[in-house]
Amino acid sequence: MQVKHFPTTVAAAYAVADRIAERLKATPKIVLGLATGVTMEPVYERLVALHRAGEISFANVTSFNLDEYVGLPPVDPRSYRSTMDSQLFDLVDIDKSRTFVPDGLVADPKAFGSRYEAMIREAGGIDLQLLGIGRNGHIGFNEPGADFAARTRVVDLEKSTLEANSAFFGGALPPTQAMTMGIGTILDSREIIVLATGATKRDAVRASLLGDITPDCPATALRRHPNVSWWLDAESGAGVASGSLAAE
Ligand code: F6R
Repeated sequence: MQVKHFPTTVAAAYAVADRIAERLKATPKIVLGLATGVTMEPVYERLVALHRAGEISFANVTSFNLDEYVGLPPVDPRSYRSTMDSQLFDLVDIDKSRTFVPDGLVADPKAFGSRYEAMIREAGGIDLQLLGIGRNGHIGFNEPGADFAARTRVVDLEKSTLEANSAFFGGALPPTQAMTMGIGTILDSREIIVLATGATKRDAVRASLLGDITPDCPATALRRHPNVSWWLDAESGAGVASGSLAAE
């Protein structure tokens, strides 16, 4: 596990985008695992800028997003499908038929979860998974208590998560459930990048890197993965040393 520090939020996010761009240039048919949220906005902004500058093409990329709210249709501007379209997919040359976001409206979520897992496997697995982290240590929408072996499924969201994300819902609470890749799905990725920025993430980052490995802090599961890097700004990374740690 590698820990990298950057002086500002933008520096950390742009460095993550540059790492993604580097992987994309080396492997044009890369399978990306993507995240949404405030943390990712400058990452996508930079990827779009690199694409417009002619430096990267998404033409052969396949992508799988981590999660989607249950009950929001894809056309709802607050859905993660819409967010991905407006922040990245509609602004680059990606083939949208190869961009996958969990469906929050399916009648049979269990069957959908299995299908999503099968689609990831059929695409060859995720080469590079981008993750943010919740204030409570969630990854994807795997809230505290989630099984480290869990696969794509519907979960209940914690109050703190609903409150943190209420800004996107005009101050009202978001839907209380989401369809999310499981921690097991995430750990199958070949490389994982975690971007955490801002003081609100400091405790979760410390617990994830330095605390006991426990479902109480889902991101501690990442310590069992051989190829994870944490990209931190000054606020989120305070009190955490740079460098490499072996997987546990
Ligand atoms: C989003 C996701 C979540 C977010 C996390 C941080 O697809 O899976 O785990 O990464 O909630 O969200 P922000 O970046 O809004 O603080």
